[in-house]
Amino acid sequence: MSAKGIRVTGAIAVFFMLTLSAMTMEAKTKVTEASFGKMPDGTPVDIYTLNDGKIEARITTYGARIVSIDAPDRNGKKADIVLGFDSLEGYLGNEPYFGAIVGRYGNRIAKGKFTLDGKTYSLPINDGPNTLHGGRKGFDKVVWKGKQIPNGVELTYLSKDGEQGFPGNLTSTVRYTLVGDDLKIEYSATTDKDTVLNLTNHSYFNLAGQGSGDILQHVMQINASHFTPVDATLIPTGEIAPVEGTPFDFRTPHVIGERINADNQQIHRAHGYDDNWVLDHPAGKLSVAAIAYEPNSGRTLEVLTTQPGVQFYTGNFLDGTLKGIDGKVYNRRGAFCLETQHYPDSPNHPSFPTTELKPGQQYHQVTIFRFGTRAK
Ligand code: BGC
Repeated sequence: MSAKGIRVTGAIAVFFMLTLSAMTMEAKTKVTEASFGKMPDGTPVDIYTLNDGKIEARITTYGARIVSIDAPDRNGKKADIVLGFDSLEGYLGNEPYFGAIVGRYGNRIAKGKFTLDGKTYSLPINDGPNTLHGGRKGFDKVVWKGKQIPNGVELTYLSKDGEQGFPGNLTSTVRYTLVGDDLKIEYSATTDKDTVLNLTNHSYFNLAGQGSGDILQHVMQINASHFTPVDATLIPTGEIAPVEGTPFDFRTPHVIGERINADNQQIHRAHGYDDNWVLDHPAGKLSVAAIAYEPNSGRTLEVLTTQPGVQFYTGNFLDGTLKGIDGKVYNRRGAFCLETQHYPDSPNHPSFPTTELKPGQQYHQVTIFRFGTRAK
């Protein structure tokens, strides 16, 4: 063979080796699929198990929910660190969005009304005088179409024009992938009419293990200098208030229980923490929003996001009536949520970052739950 021929053959061989190693690197996580039961109308519901050898996460097509996340503590002992149910039936009862993808609009819209392009839209009222988490039948209560992708699962849902009062046929896709320490959630969406949307994941974390007690001894850090104070019905007043000198200042790590019962109007209104923090990072830049640490197990959770806000909610409305996986009782403040999002009620606050999506635009957001441990 000529010198040129050898070079060409060599280059082809290198190309194939690189492609092969990229392919094996890509599909590192084992993904399996099984039935999770049937909806009352007979629609089949599936559950996907993602296992990367360190972490195992289970995701169901019902509400595109995270059902469980098994993660090791500092000694390698695994525990499920999110609240959930053993079977579909648990999720079909009255439950507070465990692990769900919340939409079309996460959190509250004041009095269930907003105006877009001069038209006023009315949504179902399901939380005092307001609409919460997309209405009576939000994205958490529908069956998404699931398909395996490298390292994870892709879930798609078409929300029809007028569904729960929102305009436009909106196709949303959520991709969960698990690689190493990271459970990545990638959201995309398109619409055929101007609409508003705010998608988030509503996982309830307890890094000591689900059902193992309250989360008051967890240490929390939130990279936000401001938050959006709320009125008595938990609707933002429009103010972007500094956290400085308030129980909302988590710019340095604080034990959650330290100030959760502080004599503070905002704490009283939410019965603990249930507020939107305005993240310090530049708009759209994937950055660390919050870091939680549980001292006994050593487990940590870092939340990275492209979103401008995060709702830190301390499970104030859990009351011990729900029994979850392995019959564990879910008591008040038995978990916390870090719901990365746009600010609540943005459609009624032109000064907040916009939640509008127009035909031809691509909605794209990324959130990563990064699991780790810390030495004593
Ligand atoms: C809200 C809480 C609500 C909880 C469960 C959170 O996102 O901010 O007020 O109780 O979801 O519904």
